[in-house]
This record gives sequence, structure tokens and C-alpha cells, in this order.
Amino acid sequence: MLVSVKEMMQKAREGKYAVPQININNLEWTKSVLATAQELQSPVILGVSEGAGKYMTGFKTVAAMVKAMIEEMNITVPVALHLDHGTYEGCKKCIEAGFSSIMFDGSKYPIEENVEKTRELVNICAEKGLSLEAEVGSIGGEEDGVVGMGEFADPEECKKIADLGVDILAAGIGNIHGKYPENWPGLNFDVLANVKAKVGDMPLVLHGGTGIPADMIQKAISLGVCKINVNTECQLSFAAATRKYIEEGKDLQGKGYDPRKLLAPGAEAIKETVKEKMELFGSVGKA
Ligand code: 13P
Repeated sequence: MLVSVKEMMQKAREGKYAVPQININNLEWTKSVLATAQELQSPVILGVSEGAGKYMTGFKTVAAMVKAMIEEMNITVPVALHLDHGTYEGCKKCIEAGFSSIMFDGSKYPIEENVEKTRELVNICAEKGLSLEAEVGSIGGEEDGVVGMGEFADPEECKKIADLGVDILAAGIGNIHGKYPENWPGLNFDVLANVKAKVGDMPLVLHGGTGIPADMIQKAISLGVCKINVNTECQLSFAAATRKYIEEGKDLQGKGYDPRKLLAPGAEAIKETVKEKMELFGSVGKA
């Protein structure tokens, strides 16, 4: 059964750890993430971007696959299925498809319009038992065609959005999607502390979890971050393991071309990456 992130976030805030949101792209990804969460007894949030949803033929396919896998794999840890950086229309589709959580990325709208649309979604989610993540200050970098300039969130705007009754809030603090450039100045903890001071107990989300040094992750958690999103790092480890398999000519040995064999090293590599993140974020054994 899928759950919303509400209870996960409350426990994470009290226990001073963060629940990983691992973005999924296909069946192998989903299977690896669920198996690792179960093995490590960690709660997990499966993130699905609009692009990934489209790739998997639509949000209904994703929801059906994830629900069936939870059952067939006997997964007992809390799992949320969460729309990542949703448009207003995408949010509506995921609510209908049976997701347990959505993110409305209204950061591209003027704050008044972001507030108005978020308010409407707050009401729908409350009625249907889903959790809702909102974003203030766009996250830098590029993800599935969504390009953010990497702003710092305005604490006053964060408060305005938090007060609408969203469950979790993503605030830009210098984090960006994808690999961090050499000259990246790091997370801005002053902005994070100022946001936290305004929004109180609201669990905060750190996007762009790939490549953030361990000490910064820990500091962010100590300042109220309860959910950290990781996507690129799994893509990189999947690609590296697949490259190695092919470069070693293993696809040409026996039935090494069988996709179940060809994709196995990548799927194993994802498990390793997810494990590292769960250990770093402190979510192991918190299911
Ligand atoms: P990365 O791809 O940088 O790990 O970011 C993932 C993310 O924030 C998804 O919303």
C-alpha cells in the first residue's frame, strides 16, 4: 500500500534524519529502490518527474506498476509515490492515477498565482489524503526540460506558501539539479536558517541531492531538512556499470545480450547508490 509522506516527515523531523526521494525511470529502477528500502528497513519516496511518467507511458502505468511491485515483492516499509516538479495539470493527473503525494512546482508563476494554485491543490489533497510539496525559489540546473536559475528562496514567500497548509516545502538554497559545477559555492545555510525561522515545524526538502558533500547534507538535516531528492547519481551509477559490462564484452559472451543480464549490473549499482544515500541521510532502520 502506498502512503503519503506526512507521517514519514513527522518521524524524520523528530528523529533528525531525512527520507530519500529516489527518482524512478523504469521497472529496473523501481525494483532496485524498493528492494534496497526493504533490506535496510528505510522509508522511501519514489519520485516521478513528468518526463519519466511520459516515458513509462503515463502516470497510470507508473502507479499500477509500483502498487503491484509492493505486493509481489512483499514490501512492508512505508513507500510514497510522489510526482516530482509537477505542473498544475500534471498534479491533477497524478491525483487521478493514484499517486500518494504530489509536488506542485509553482516557482515559475508570480507568487500570487503560485499561492492561488497551491491553495486549490491543498484542498484537493486534504480531501483525498495525499501529501503536497510546494516550491519557492526555483532549483537551479536542468531536469527533464525544467530549467531553474538557482535562486535563493525568499523566507517571507516561504511562509506565505507554508501557511496555505502544504505538507512539505522545497526552498532553493543554492542547490541545483544534476552535477555541481567546480566553482559551486555550496549550500547557503543562512538562507536555510532564515527559511526555517519563518516556517517553524514545516518539513523542508532539499532537491539536487546528487554530489552534495556529506557534511553539508548533515548540516541541512540539522536545520530542518526532512526529505532529500536524488536522481542523477543513480543515473550515473547505472550508466557506469552498464558501460563496464559492455566494454568488457560481456554482452557478447553466452546470452549476455539478454536484457535481464545486460541491465543487471546497472540495477545492482543503483542499489549501492541508494544504500549509500540511506546511510548518509540516517533513514536506515527507520521504517
Ligand atoms: P539530482 O538529479 O541532482 O540528484 O536532483 C534530483 C531532484 O532534485 C529531483 O527533484
